Amino acid sequence: MNRLFDVLLGLLVAIFAVALLGYGYAWWTSTQNLSQRYDAPLMDITLSDDPAVIAEGERLARTRGCFWCHGADLQGKVYYVAGVKGVRSIAPNLTWKARDYTTAEFVRALRHGIRPDGTSVQPAMPTFAYFHLSDRDLTALVSYIKSLPAVDGMKGDFSYYPYGNIRYALGEFPPNAADLIDPSQPRVSADFTPGSAEHGLYLVKSTCEACHSDNGRFRVSIAPNLQIGKAYSAEDLQRLMRTGVALGDREIDYQMIEVAQHRYIYFTDTEIAALYNYFQSM
Ligand code: HEC
Ligand code: HEC
Repeated sequence: MNRLFDVLLGLLVAIFAVALLGYGYAWWTSTQNLSQRYDAPLMDITLSDDPAVIAEGERLARTRGCFWCHGADLQGKVYYVAGVKGVRSIAPNLTWKARDYTTAEFVRALRHGIRPDGTSVQPAMPTFAYFHLSDRDLTALVSYIKSLPAVDGMKGDFSYYPYGNIRYALGEFPPNAADLIDPSQPRVSADFTPGSAEHGLYLVKSTCEACHSDNGRFRVSIAPNLQIGKAYSAEDLQRLMRTGVALGDREIDYQMIEVAQHRYIYFTDTEIAALYNYFQSM
């Protein structure tokens, strides 16, 4: 009887030790990932206070989703609660970040996903798409955000909860934002005629691909290959972009409906024509 008890106890202790070691490994590797350092050049841009440039910057912030994720006043917003995902992620108050970071640091965070201390932003923030923003658009965007008064809000955060540490170790999370960008890759050309297919490609790279891309390394969402855009007439595409209603009134995922209603509603007619021409050229 005593022997049996000893064996069972020994087994229990062994199971516990293995679980503890496993969790220790998961904790260690996920924590390492968050403190990994990256490098990319700091590039300064000259900010503008021209009201037309600032207004264009605000429009870019709307179409590119800054308000959508960072809150209606860019005051910061909870992106993931710990719950099911096992991570907590807060998109930070950008009116504070714009003050805390130099312009060059802010631009590097946006284009390369690298913070001033060299650590990477987490990939909920689609920097691999913003990498493609032209110097001109970036100037308007950053001039606008830097022109905003600081508002009360939330500091950024990204932390793993125990279940999240384990999911990370199992390879269930995408890599760091900085891992998704090769700083030496060419940017998509911004030297296009407004409304042309090349203009459409610029839009696809700098915003649509935040979801409609497997980025060579990980699938961002359930968004389909954009070849499907070829099936759309100019009118149907206009309707999808402005209202979120798909071809043939089919039911589609809420994410596409939300991006249309909250973000792409700010596209100009020329931008929608550019997307149409791009899809037709595919
Ligand atoms: C899909 C949601 C999403 C969109 C769209 C988005 N962000 Fe973010 N952003 C986040 C999240 C979440 C974080 C925090 C990531 C982290 O802490 O690792 C973040 C982090 C950042 C940071 C880095 C802050 C730091 O920790 O140093 C900057 C700068 C930033 N965003 C600017 C922008 C701007 C400007 C736009 C619009 C062009 C934008 N974001 C659009 C979700 C988003
Ligand atoms: C926040 C993520 C997100 C962004 C950004 C986004 N999409 Fe989508 N899109 C989706 C998802 C998810 C679906 C899948 C909807 C479904 O099949 O239920 C979708 C579906 C579509 C479809 C197919 C609709 C159909 O008829 O089935 C088209 C076309 C499309 N998106 C175009 C675009 C274009 C153009 C852009 C950029 C201007 C864009 N999307 C940006 C998430 C996104």
